Amino acid sequence: MPFSNKLDATNLTVISAPERMSSIIRSPGGKHRLARDLVNLAPFNVKEYRELFAGSAAVAFRMARMGRTRKIWINDLDPGIANKWTVVRDDPAGLMRVLLSLHDRFGAGSKELFDLAIQMVDSDDRTEAAAGFYTRNHLSMYGANGMSSYAPSHPRDGRGLRPIHINYIPQFSAWLQGAKITNLDYREVLDAPGAGVMCFIDPPYAQVGKAMYPFGEADLEELARHVRASSHACLVTVDDSPANRVAFSDMRPIVHAFTSNMGNIHKSAELVCANYTTPDRVPWIGVTAQSPFDLRRAWPD
Ligand SMILES: C[S@@+](CC[C@H](N)C(=O)[O-])C[C@H]1O[C@@H](n2cnc3c(N)ncnc32)[C@H](O)[C@@H]1O
Repeated sequence: MPFSNKLDATNLTVISAPERMSSIIRSPGGKHRLARDLVNLAPFNVKEYRELFAGSAAVAFRMARMGRTRKIWINDLDPGIANKWTVVRDDPAGLMRVLLSLHDRFGAGSKELFDLAIQMVDSDDRTEAAAGFYTRNHLSMYGANGMSSYAPSHPRDGRGLRPIHINYIPQFSAWLQGAKITNLDYREVLDAPGAGVMCFIDPPYAQVGKAMYPFGEADLEELARHVRASSHACLVTVDDSPANRVAFSDMRPIVHAFTSNMGNIHKSAELVCANYTTPDRVPWIGVTAQSPFDLRRAWPD
């Protein structure tokens, strides 16, 4: 594919990403809006931060920009996601070159561009595959990665492929310098030894795993057992359900209610759980932390 050659690694400019911009891709169930509050729940002294189900890696980037860790490991079972972050780290100029060239040819988006992006995702060229992944992500409903059709409204309403967003790639690349990026099952990352490690664990919601993500699901009861046995500080977000309230009851879950725009706009809730004592209770939660006993009683038998 004939991509223009205007950019190379020597003329990249790091443009500060706006506060509200948590990542350059979206992910269904992504923690874009919650990232800052989750960082406030991190232990005080994190020597290494691991994000086991990275998706958009919104919390990892927030940890980096708030200077809360110097060592980052992001992981996702989806090889397209792992490749995407690897290319952002190692070849931001190449990635921008392909994306800007696509924008020159197709503008903010069209079905034709979406179909081309789908083909590019399978390219043997890692940078081209990452550009395809980015483009498909920006043109899909909910930012679904390969699980949704083209969203024709995106290019019209300010989303789609935009140079203003593409130009922030060097900033996100800078935050990823030195980061480890893997494509493993979460258990391998959780079990790997380390000192002063914090793991952020945001698995697919129960029931929606296969419908929303092309790779992987997680058995949340097994995940709870794994977290309980881990020597690392683990912060976990799971959907609020009777089963999860029981499975994570000893991790003092906090209920976070929010409005979801997945499918019909509806009220939803998730549990924020930790296997360590969190530094603070953050205001957005409305301090609904309850003892395990209270939590079990919150649901009729
Ligand atoms: C809820 S999303 C994570 C969203 C992310 N926290 C964010 O802010 O964008 C779940 C992610 O887990 C990944 N995944 C599913 N099963 C996995 C597994 N067994 N190990 C590692 N990653 C997995 C999916 O590919 C998906 O990207």
